[in-house]
Amino acid sequence: MQELNGLNDNIAVLKQEILDGAEKLGSSKELYEFKKTYVDGKNGKVNQLMKEMRNIPADQKAAYGKSVNELKSWAQEFLGGLDEKMKKMELEKRYEAEQVDISMPAVKKIPGNLHPITQMRNQLIDVFAGMGFEIYEGSEVETDYYNFTALNTPQDHPARDMQDTFYLSPEFLLRTQTSAGQIHVMENRKPPIKILSPGKVFRSDDDATHSPMFSQMEGLVVDKGITLCDLQGMLDEFVKKIYGEGTRTRLRPSYFPFTEPSVEVDCSCFECGGKGCKLCKGTGWIEVLGAGVVNKKVLENCGIDSDVYSGFAFGIGIERTAMLKYGINNIKMLFESDLRVLKQLND
Ligand code: DAH
Repeated sequence: MQELNGLNDNIAVLKQEILDGAEKLGSSKELYEFKKTYVDGKNGKVNQLMKEMRNIPADQKAAYGKSVNELKSWAQEFLGGLDEKMKKMELEKRYEAEQVDISMPAVKKIPGNLHPITQMRNQLIDVFAGMGFEIYEGSEVETDYYNFTALNTPQDHPARDMQDTFYLSPEFLLRTQTSAGQIHVMENRKPPIKILSPGKVFRSDDDATHSPMFSQMEGLVVDKGITLCDLQGMLDEFVKKIYGEGTRTRLRPSYFPFTEPSVEVDCSCFECGGKGCKLCKGTGWIEVLGAGVVNKKVLENCGIDSDVYSGFAFGIGIERTAMLKYGINNIKMLFESDLRVLKQLND
């Protein structure tokens, strides 16, 4: 009987141990480990008490077993309830931490925009496509023949000095002008021809208004009876669409080997309307492109009868057009990809 009392004490001690230990638990995770120590599995402390059965006199075994089982049921119920409570509290805490504050300002999504050079290129294409021009994309690597010789600029011609060329070999070079595309088109098509050729060109040139790589857009029209008047009529339309309705053009004599006569085209200053300002350097006019009537020699180099057909051509600098339009004074701003600049140049 004495022994049984001692063992019953063990049951009471273990119960107290469970009560005390449970108070110190900080999380359901800790409780899980605690349950393993006391009630779960064969090695749980409560189950260990059953091992004492062999020391108990036969007539008291039943009473002892009942007490241990009672402790076990109590512990399971007690710790199970505690587990439920703890998990509920933990969930509430999580919900609170994850709460969405609908009064917080939303994260702003800044949409991208096309690069100003691409925008300018698209605008120019739009204007000329509206006049019936087709796009021809030439290649950036050209032969000396297409870039110079066929354009009436043979070796040692002084006009070669106008364009500092990157030669890849004596025969191949990076095209210095989209004019090279004129020859490919005229070699492969019969007039009437009306093409627009946008693309990158390369020159060994680098300062505030020049870059070793820049973009041009070439235009070429060849048909019967084409004159300088057709060129001027088309240019009038072009400047109005790009720089505004009130813009006028003026042609100044110039020189390009592939056109005769050649002209430099100015438009009335779209900033001051022609009165004279900083942009037009007080002249009221801004130079926008080079153009001219296609030189008979160029037509003949391509197998086109210059007694039957004539044409005009023009070349526009895309960066220059963008710089004028957006009031940029350094071409590098267009190539540095500074988002603060690019965001302002969104049409
Ligand atoms: N290719 C010339 C240049 O890069 C621009 C040019 C001038 C093109 C007159 C033309 C033209 O087609 O007729 O400076």
